[in-house]
Order: sequence, then C-alpha cells, then structure tokens
Amino acid sequence: MTSFKQDVITGLSADAKYLSSRYFYDEIGDQIFQEIMAMPDYYLTRAEEEIFHLRKEEIYKALNFSCPFKLVELGAGDGLKTKILLRSFLEQKADFQYLPIDISSHVLAELSESLAQELPQLEVEPMAKEYFEALEQLQKISGEPKLVLFLGSNIGNFPQGKASGFLNSLAAKLQTGDKLLLGVDLKKEPAKILKAYSDKTGITARFNLNILSRINRELGANFDLQSFDHYASYNPQSGECRSYLICRKAQEVHLEGVAQNIHFEEFESIHTEISKKYSPSELDRLAAETGFKVIEKFYDSQKQFSDVLLEKR
Ligand code: AVI
Repeated sequence: MTSFKQDVITGLSADAKYLSSRYFYDEIGDQIFQEIMAMPDYYLTRAEEEIFHLRKEEIYKALNFSCPFKLVELGAGDGLKTKILLRSFLEQKADFQYLPIDISSHVLAELSESLAQELPQLEVEPMAKEYFEALEQLQKISGEPKLVLFLGSNIGNFPQGKASGFLNSLAAKLQTGDKLLLGVDLKKEPAKILKAYSDKTGITARFNLNILSRINRELGANFDLQSFDHYASYNPQSGECRSYLICRKAQEVHLEGVAQNIHFEEFESIHTEISKKYSPSELDRLAAETGFKVIEKFYDSQKQFSDVLLEKR
C-alpha cells in the first residue's frame, strides 16, 4: 500500500479526522498555490519579497562569509523571491554555488532553465531529493560554509510541536557557523490572517478541496465535493491558523480496495492544515531550543513577516 493511501486511511479513521497538508501539492495543488500567492489577500508573499528588496545588501553582509559558500534552498519551487537575493549576492561579488533542493525534478528543471536565462553567471546544482538526504550528502562532500534558505512560512505548516524537531534535525546536519534564513509569518490582527486563508474568490477553498479530488483521482474514492466546505479559524494565542473541510451532510465514502466505508456525520470535519504564526519572542525561544543563535530579524515595512537569520551554534 502506498504511504499516501495508508495516511489517508489512518487520518480518516481517527475520531477527529485529519489529512496532512503535504498532500495538497500534486500538480493541480501546485498550480492553485501559485494562484494563492498572487492573491492580494495573501500578504505573505509580497511581504517577504519586500524584505528581500529592502534588505538584500544587509542580509548578505550579515552572513559574514569571507570564503566561497554553498547556498542551499529547501523547497525551492519557482524561486521567484530567491532570485532577488541571488541577483543581489552576485552584484555584491559573493562567491557561491546555488543548490536548490526540491522533491520534484520537474520543478527543479524549470527553475534551472529560468536561472540559466536570467542569471547565466550563477553556478547551479539542483538536487531532486528529500531535504535531509540532500543535506547529508552535502555534509559529506563539502567543507564550505552553508547558508540554508527555508522561506515562505513553510515552517508554519509543521504539525503542532514538530517545528522544533525539524530545526533540531536541520541543526544536526550543519556545522558551527553555518547560517539559516528562516521565513516566518508573524502574529497580527486576526481578521487579516483569516482573510488570507478564506478569500472571497474561493481560491483557498479550491486548494483545500483539491485534497479530496486527489483522493478521488488517485485512490479511487467517491467524495462528493459539493457537500464539503472550506473553513479556516485563527487562534490568536497559539498563533495557529487551522483549515478544515466541513461535511454538510451525512455520507459514506468508499475507497477502492478498502473493505470498510468511511462514515461522515452531518457537520463532521477533516482537519487539513496548520499555518502557524509566531511572535518575535517565540522566534527567539525556538532558535534557542534548537541549537541556533539569532543574528538578525529582518522585517517588511508593516512588520507582517520576518526573515530571521540564524547561526548554528
Ligand atoms: C505553503 N504554506 C506556507 C502556505 C501557508 O500559508 O501556510 C500554504 C497555504 N495554505 C493556504 N494558503 C496557503
């Protein structure tokens, strides 16, 4: 049985049903996520872009690397924001190689092609691997210092309590003095956050519902998508924005090759995503408990988002 199928069965058999947001990102999900990033209400992308435009010189100076280094990006995607930094680092005569890591070789091929056009002088070595596998390989082959990029508030999508585990494992793969630039969405007016995750145009709803379409397509299920609604809620204390799919009518869902149907009661929900927001002091604690020292927090002009430069202790 594939791990996707196993995870779906486990999540939908739980008392409080859940599905992992990592299954949002099939080809259709990737496309809808591009639409989300272009939405005016989804402020995160614009805020991080602004930070890079405003602070790219300071970010490079704060690295304090005097020798050649490796710039490693976890989950590089289309690299649109990263190109702002890459271009600026080259203009500042930095001596580095760019290693975008992504599980999708298709995404990496497109990124490499666009970089060859736009920044032909840049040395690019894409790695189509899981993050830690790629970092392990790098650890073996390279004595050069590293800057790791983990942008776009991806750290916010880890299940409750798992972000520190991830940063601990990342720290274990780095050498003292290596840097991490971590893109984090900040706590702010709840209404603004909710708008970003429940836009009126219905793009985020489509993104969330795509996980059910994917289960229908890939696992031969028969979810009736019309009877599920997208619902997002924000808890200003935990900083967690949680997304759910709400089932409006009682129904049985059948999955190919699974003997028992999955039963939904009226208004039963499936929890699909956590997008956690941090306060600056929480970021300090997160860094301290995971083996990193905060070098500097860079903010956009409205202090909506932060790119935090961390150093492995
Ligand atoms: C990929 N990730 C950082 C996005 C976020 O903001 O949590 C995914 C997303 N979900 C709904 N809108 C965007």
